[in-house]
Amino acid sequence: MSDGTNGPHARRERPRPAAEAAPVTVRVPAKLNLYLGVGPLRADGYHEVSTVYQALSLYDEVTAEPAERLSVVVHGEGAAGVPRNNDNLAVQAARAVAALTGLKPAVRLVIRKGIPVAGGMAGGSADAAAALVACDALWGTGLDRETLRRLGSGLGSDVPFALTGGTALGTGRGEQLSPVLGRGSYHWVVGFAETGLSTPAVYAELDRLRAAHPAPTSETAEAVVSALRQSDPVALGRVLSNDLQDAALSLRPQLRRVLDTGRELGAVGSIVSGSGPTVAMLVRSPADGVALAAALSGSGVCRSVRQASSPVPGARILTG
Ligand code: C5P
Repeated sequence: MSDGTNGPHARRERPRPAAEAAPVTVRVPAKLNLYLGVGPLRADGYHEVSTVYQALSLYDEVTAEPAERLSVVVHGEGAAGVPRNNDNLAVQAARAVAALTGLKPAVRLVIRKGIPVAGGMAGGSADAAAALVACDALWGTGLDRETLRRLGSGLGSDVPFALTGGTALGTGRGEQLSPVLGRGSYHWVVGFAETGLSTPAVYAELDRLRAAHPAPTSETAEAVVSALRQSDPVALGRVLSNDLQDAALSLRPQLRRVLDTGRELGAVGSIVSGSGPTVAMLVRSPADGVALAAALSGSGVCRSVRQASSPVPGARILTG
């Protein structure tokens, strides 16, 4: 019997040395929170949340290339705002896979940004999820989805969702997922802001606002889940809800104009995405999306606009 160190299958049982491996590219979507209920601040510095996540067709791509040592380069819009050191979540993801499997974190990560940086769409978490999948494939470490999910939840609250995509209910700090059965596809116009917002700063602002004026959450996750079953954008538009929205508006009052302009120009719902400052506007059809995007571009209330649809799958290896 082979002991795994020699014999005909020995080479295939070991991870392939980096120099032989071909680069692996993973595409990963942004997320929206169709509902985000924020509970109290926990002892660990996170807030208990209940959220309905949906993955949106704005993508980052992360390529893992064989290399002698760990490095990262970032291209695309807002790339200058992405850290190149160990603060980069994709770098942390590569280190996590290497540490778990006993390998050297020898990889060059190339990140192409399509998700706004510090935009409330979990772009950093998306890069971490993509790097987990890409490094696992590059190094042939064969980690299962549950192991990747566990590594991901240690890196950021939204990383497990970026791995799975689709639609999911998130609890805990957002990392505990259960699938949501929805129907249909939704069309969005997404308004990007000139500069980002810091997620911890927005949560802290919410705590400050609540200490001054305690206000109960009106909508529920159930209302959003039930609207998703109807596959009706108008019904969904009515119940979109985000507890972080008032905090984001308090820090960035001009977002109110984006929200209002979107509705005035035909959106059936508009909401600050996560901690903002990106605004997501729901429309009835792709054609309505084209019209709204054109009108919104002309209004000058946001830096740029994109059209996108949801839900889409999570982090996936691009082949060919
Ligand atoms: O998990 P992640 O690293 O993305 O979170 C960034 C920050 O956002 C946390 O350090 C915390 O300040 C805030 N946060 C929170 N409650 C959550 C998720 C994030 O307070 N459920």
